[in-house]
Amino acid sequence: MIREFQVRRDDIEKSRLFETAASGADNDSLADGAIRVKVERFSFTANNVTYAVAGDQLGYWQFFPASGDDADGWGIIPVWGFAEVTESNCTDVPVGERLFGYFPPATHLDMMPAHVAEYRLVDGALHRAKLPAGYNTYYRVRAEPGYDPANDNERMLLWPLHITSFCLWDALKDNGWYGAEQVIVVSASSKTSIGLAYALDDDDSAPRTVAITSQRNLEFVKRLGLYDESVSYESLVEIDARLPTAIVDMSGNGEVLGRLHTLLGDNMKRCINVGLTHWEESEPGGGIITERSEFFFAPTHIQKRMQEWGPEGFAERTSSFMQETALKSRGWLKLKKINGLDGLADIYKDVCEGRLAADQGLIVEL
Ligand SMILES: NC(=O)c1ccc[n+]([C@@H]2O[C@H](COP(=O)([O-])OP(=O)(O)OC[C@H]3O[C@@H](n4cnc5c(N)ncnc54)[C@H](OP(=O)(O)O)[C@@H]3O)[C@@H](O)[C@H]2O)c1
Repeated sequence: MIREFQVRRDDIEKSRLFETAASGADNDSLADGAIRVKVERFSFTANNVTYAVAGDQLGYWQFFPASGDDADGWGIIPVWGFAEVTESNCTDVPVGERLFGYFPPATHLDMMPAHVAEYRLVDGALHRAKLPAGYNTYYRVRAEPGYDPANDNERMLLWPLHITSFCLWDALKDNGWYGAEQVIVVSASSKTSIGLAYALDDDDSAPRTVAITSQRNLEFVKRLGLYDESVSYESLVEIDARLPTAIVDMSGNGEVLGRLHTLLGDNMKRCINVGLTHWEESEPGGGIITERSEFFFAPTHIQKRMQEWGPEGFAERTSSFMQETALKSRGWLKLKKINGLDGLADIYKDVCEGRLAADQGLIVEL
C-alpha cells in the first residue's frame, strides 16, 4: 500500500492522506531499470510550505505528481530526507542502498537511476528532466567516506537551508556586499537566516548585521548572539537608515519590505528576495524599490558555482561550512520527532501558520 500526504494546490492549508494499494505492492509493476525506495524520514520547515506557495510558479508540483483518480487540484510538497531501496531493476543500485535527497512525503517512490556514480545518482524520470538538477541528484550515503547516520537528522533539516545560506554569503561577498555597510536579514529567526548569520559572523570582511524578526522570536534571535542588532517588525525605525544597506529577505512580507525600503531610500542598495515565510502577507507593499530588488534561487547559484569550481570544488568549499553550522546549531536546535504521515497531517497547519517555536526542527519518521 502507498500512502501520500497531499495538499490542495489552490488552498495549500488543506491537506489529505491518500492511500492506494494499486502500485508499490506489486513487484511486476516496477519498470526496467527502475528502483523503488521506501521513504524513511524527512524534515519539514517553512521552506516546504514555500514549495507549495510557489508550486505553480517554480514548478515544485511537477516533481511528484499526486496519485489517485481524483488527484486533479491536489499536489505533493517535496521534502528532504532519506530512503532505502527496497526493490531494484537496476544492477548499479542494489536493494539495501540508502539515498539522501528530494522525496515525496509518502511511503514509496519509484525512480529511474541515471548517471550513477560512486557517491551520487540522478533520478532520470522523464517528468523531472526539465526541473533544476540539484533537486534530481541523490547521495548514495553508505559510499560516502566518514558517513555517520547519527548526523542524518541535522543533514536533512539543515543541509538544504544552509547550502542556501552559504550561497547567499558567497553572492553578497562576490558583489562587494553591494557597497553596503550593514546587511539586514528579514525573518531572521528562520534556519536559512541563521545559517547566513553564521557565515557573516565568521567573515571579518562582512558588514554589520541587523536581524528583523517578530516580537515573539526577538529574544531567541538576540540569544543567538550572531547579529549585531535585532529589531522587531514593529520597530523598524530603530534601524540606522543612514548606512548603505543590503537586505536579504526570507519573509516575502510586502508591507514590511515597503516600510523598510521607504525608510532606507537611496541607502537601500540591494534587496535579495529569497523566501516567503510570511506567505499570507506577500502582496507587494507601497514603497518597494523594485529596480534594486532581485529574486535569488539557490539551485541557480549552485549550478553557476559548480560550473566555475567543478562539483568537487563546490563540495569541498561547502562541506566544511555545513559541518560547522550543523555543529553550532546544536547549541539551540531542538529536534522534534513527528510520527508518520498522520503526525505530519496533524501539525501541517501549524507549520503553515508559523506557530512553531523558532528553535524547533521537525523530523517526520515513517
Ligand atoms: N530561494 C531559495 O533558493 C531558497 C532556498 C532555501 C530556503 N528558502 C526560503 O527561506 C525561507 C526560510 O525557510 P526555513 O526553512 O529556513 O524557515 P524556518 O526555519 O521554518 O523558519 C521559521 C520562521 O519563519 C517565520 N515564519 C514561518 N512561518 C510563518 C508564518 N506563517 N507567518 C509568519 N512568520 C512565519 C518565523 O520567523 P520570524 O518571526 O523571524 O519572521 C519563524 O520563526 C523559506 O521561505 C524558504 O523557502 C529559499
